Amino acid sequence: MGIHINEQYNELNESYLFAEIARKVAEYQKANPDKKLLKMGIGDVTRPLARCVTDAMKKASDEMGTAEGFHGYGPEQGYAFLREAIQNYYKKFGVELDADEIFISDGAKSDCGNFPDILSTDCTVLIPDPVYPVYADTNVMAGRKIIYSSANEENHFLPMPDESKVGDIIYICSPNNPTGACYSREQLAAWVAFAKKHNSLILFDAAYECFVTGDLPHSIYEIEGAKDVAVELCSFSKKAGFTGTRCGYTVVPKRIVIDGAVLNKLWIRRQTTKFNGVAYIVERGAEAALTDEGEKEVSENINYYRENAKIMTDTMDELGIYYTGGKNSPYVWLKCPFGMKSWDFFDEMLTKAGIVGTPGAGFGTNGEGFFRLTAFSTRETTIEAMKRLKEYMQSR
Ligand code: MLT
Repeated sequence: MGIHINEQYNELNESYLFAEIARKVAEYQKANPDKKLLKMGIGDVTRPLARCVTDAMKKASDEMGTAEGFHGYGPEQGYAFLREAIQNYYKKFGVELDADEIFISDGAKSDCGNFPDILSTDCTVLIPDPVYPVYADTNVMAGRKIIYSSANEENHFLPMPDESKVGDIIYICSPNNPTGACYSREQLAAWVAFAKKHNSLILFDAAYECFVTGDLPHSIYEIEGAKDVAVELCSFSKKAGFTGTRCGYTVVPKRIVIDGAVLNKLWIRRQTTKFNGVAYIVERGAEAALTDEGEKEVSENINYYRENAKIMTDTMDELGIYYTGGKNSPYVWLKCPFGMKSWDFFDEMLTKAGIVGTPGAGFGTNGEGFFRLTAFSTRETTIEAMKRLKEYMQSR
């Protein structure tokens, strides 16, 4: 008896990947205050919010200061105006959603970890390796058994269903963090069929969908039958620069029934108990990002990051470095040169080139020997970093 911690926390690495990197970088910068570091580690945006977004938030803030326009607790599921705007956004991909299938959140990260609250801890979880560390860490916290699908050079970092690895919960991130690899329609259809066959639930993280080009799918619901087996998580962070503003959404189709329970209802039950919704001002800002004017302004920023990614992939091509991503993704996932290990290359980049990246090993065992750079920096930082990388390669 007595108070005890959740012992599952002992199973985690001592600190979260990006917290660990921030600590190492701060320590290095303290010892080398004159060194100008180029930050291309965590996928944090640098372009300011679109003007129509800040205008909408200012207007909402003014409303909040009036008796008529004041808003107290908002709907836990999000305001109808934003859910409708998201419904219309999905129509662009040919996807019809009911407004009550959309839940506004404070970002995809939270719900990636929260959603399994309504699923048994006895479920087995299938997670790609390497991948965004939140999926594994949150399921370790919950004590679920995790199995990994292997993403590697051979399958171009896009693992496909494998009958020897069946998860009750299947996490898929496409375009992928950290590898930037993006599933085709056929590949996603194979995952949907696999989930149906095994009564699994897919948690589809679409946080980077705004970088998708060509005929690749933005949403898993573009695949027939996905509404029977998939929950989709998305965010305004990368699309509209909301990393510090915090707004996202989770789509829970009403068709999904587990143990006789409608998952959508269970999620409402969870949200009304544990969540008080996203701020009215923020939701108005997110709504503005989805208007025609908003889409135009926001896409200018996305194109700016795409151009950064192109500068990076051109450099990799020039240096003959193997990489994935950078085309439908803000991440360039490169093979560490000279057969170096991820954390060794991280140290080399930090101390010799003044570049902060993310060691691939932090995303899973298969990430060893790889390194992730983001295109979310400024143009100047990106150009300077590529110059320094070339100099580093020549100096070896
Ligand atoms: C990343 O760098 O992987 C992301 O920015 C982290 C996040 O979105 O939480």
